[in-house]
Amino acid sequence: MRATAWTFLTLVWVGSWLGCGPATDPPKQQTAELTYYRDIKPIMDAKCANCHTQDNIGPMPLNNYEMAHKFRDFSKLQIEQNKMPPWKGNDQCNEYTNNIALTAEERQKLLRWIEIGSPQGDPKDTPPTQTKSSGLEKADLTLTLPVAYVPTKTPDDYRCFVVDWPQTSTTYITGYHVKAGNRKIAHHLIAYVVAPKEVPKLLDLDSKEEGPGYTCFGGPKVNAGWVGAWAPGGGAQLYPKGTGIKIEPGSKIVLQMHYNVLQSNPEPDQSKIEFQLADKVEKEGLLVPYSNILGGWNGKGMEIPAGQSDVKHEFKADIVSLLKARSAPKLESITIHSVTLHLHLLGKSAQLYVKRSNAKEDCVLDIPKWDFNWQYMYDLKTPITLKVGDELGIVCRWDNSPENQPIIDGKRAIPQNVYWGDGTRDEMCLGVVYLTYNTTP
Ligand code: HEC
Repeated sequence: MRATAWTFLTLVWVGSWLGCGPATDPPKQQTAELTYYRDIKPIMDAKCANCHTQDNIGPMPLNNYEMAHKFRDFSKLQIEQNKMPPWKGNDQCNEYTNNIALTAEERQKLLRWIEIGSPQGDPKDTPPTQTKSSGLEKADLTLTLPVAYVPTKTPDDYRCFVVDWPQTSTTYITGYHVKAGNRKIAHHLIAYVVAPKEVPKLLDLDSKEEGPGYTCFGGPKVNAGWVGAWAPGGGAQLYPKGTGIKIEPGSKIVLQMHYNVLQSNPEPDQSKIEFQLADKVEKEGLLVPYSNILGGWNGKGMEIPAGQSDVKHEFKADIVSLLKARSAPKLESITIHSVTLHLHLLGKSAQLYVKRSNAKEDCVLDIPKWDFNWQYMYDLKTPITLKVGDELGIVCRWDNSPENQPIIDGKRAIPQNVYWGDGTRDEMCLGVVYLTYNTTP
């Protein structure tokens, strides 16, 4: 109520100041330096309304003047603190083609518009919307959760659903587009591929639990490769031209859903993922999980002691030499196109970097404030090539203090020693890298 009174007073005040007389209607202020319709709507439609519309994950719609005006003070806070739009990558580190953050100019315009009283302007001044193609070129295959699932755990339910891969010959995934079923509760989706020889283990896991799918947190609990990751606001993901991820017939796809029902009641969701496919590609792309591959972190290696508020683990290795020795003798270099990082709930920050053989360092991805809710691939504007002798490094930090424990069953957990694992209270320090091989003929 107080907010409404304030809004009214502000309008009267701004109105009389502009010489419009007492404002019974909101003043249009067509001559203001910035108006909603002319300057702000295009920005908010592009950078806010992909989440802030009715029946979407954003708590209120922000695609019309009334709401943009009503929530302007909240928006100001969120924009000033760089919390909205929720882009977690540090722009000083590298450039990404799918960056949803505000540009410096957009940010400045929004803040200035709020500062001058959020003038409305004339709808006729709205610039034509730039149609940005954000879908796949074609959706060749759609895989859907087997049933409409209602989350049973609050506030977070992590659930893996097993779906058949119907292709009968080797196929390459060249892009995907997640269509979240219930965008109020779907917080992320990670798609994994499980190779035919692992399928019996997967089916066993799936059949042991009641209801559709099974509970899973850090991954599907069997050997699986990443196919893609989606968080709200993310659009279609196309792998670089001429590349794709190889899927063998007889594989299964696991769709790992994270539902969060803090903002909404548990409601059914039946999300789906569309794939763009090719029979052949020029170069196979691999989504490679990267962590302490020399074995040090499995089991009890990656200790995060109870109560400590800043624990760091770091690992780096000459990844090209390792891949060469393992499976690709003709490997000369690798090219990294997209990356992401994966920690769990105690994560504070994470980085991926390259240390060149001449000791020069390149930042690949820096997430200064880790947020489990916002995980997606970061598509590098300029792909990075690594040769023999270059090292790929990963750094993760965690806060295991009493104040930073997750709420489990309505209670804040007590700190415990934490290790690598895929449970809610285990941790990971994982990079996922989409790369292609460059080999000698
Ligand atoms: C990728 C999805 C996404 C985009 C893009 C996005 N938001 Fe949000 N926004 C959310 C979600 C989800 C929340 C709920 C709380 C949270 O997760 O932080 C939220 C919360 C907010 C809040 C806080 C509401 C409250 O109750 O305090 C404001 C204000 C806000 N957003 C403004 C904006 C503005 C302004 C933009 C564009 C400049 C924007 N958001 C872009 C998803 C998004």
